[in-house]
Amino acid sequence: MLLDVIAVALWAMLPAYVPNNAAVLAGGGRPIDGGRVLGGARLLGDGKTWRGAIVGTLVGAAVALVLNAVVVSARGFLGVELPRFPPAAIVGLPAGAILGDIAASFLKRRSGRERGASFPVLDQLDFVAGALVAVYLIAPGWAAATFTPAVIATVVVLTPLLHLATNVIGYQLGVKAEPW
Ligand code: CTP
Ligand code: MG
Repeated sequence: MLLDVIAVALWAMLPAYVPNNAAVLAGGGRPIDGGRVLGGARLLGDGKTWRGAIVGTLVGAAVALVLNAVVVSARGFLGVELPRFPPAAIVGLPAGAILGDIAASFLKRRSGRERGASFPVLDQLDFVAGALVAVYLIAPGWAAATFTPAVIATVVVLTPLLHLATNVIGYQLGVKAEPW
């Protein structure tokens, strides 16, 4: 039962987990804020680029399409009622994750944190909050059926652990500047 909830949580969030990691690999080029400043600090900073946001969203959507293609076999193999992503979730989960990360950078700059500074809890859950808000807005029926309170609780507990693990790996590989 708990394993079922964990499987659903990881499956449903995968299209939201991948975008920010893809953005780290793809990032660079023009910053989204175009260098604009607000109250003495950058609006978002050089760490949020158009290329990172667009490639990240596309890679997340591609992950959702791949999961849809294998969902029937995965259900049979795991014996778990894994969700299929409707079009609104294929776009909403990755776009929401990217927007959540961008919103977090906005808050980091407003609170005087430089690019790359850590902001515990926000760093680990910004993209989860963004993805959940996005799917609840654009695919409310699917979101309510998929992200039940038990699944959300599992996501909130597991995500910081997974996030930390992938960022430490990215840092060790030299593709990420800080391990958070
Ligand atoms: N990145 C990007 N575009 C995004 C998100 C991330 O180009 N929308 C790339 C940037 O090269 C960024 C790296 O991924 O430096 C790491 O992402 P993140 O840790 O989110 O950014 P930080 O540089 O730490 O900046 P911030 O303090 O604003 O989070
Ligand atoms: Mg960072």
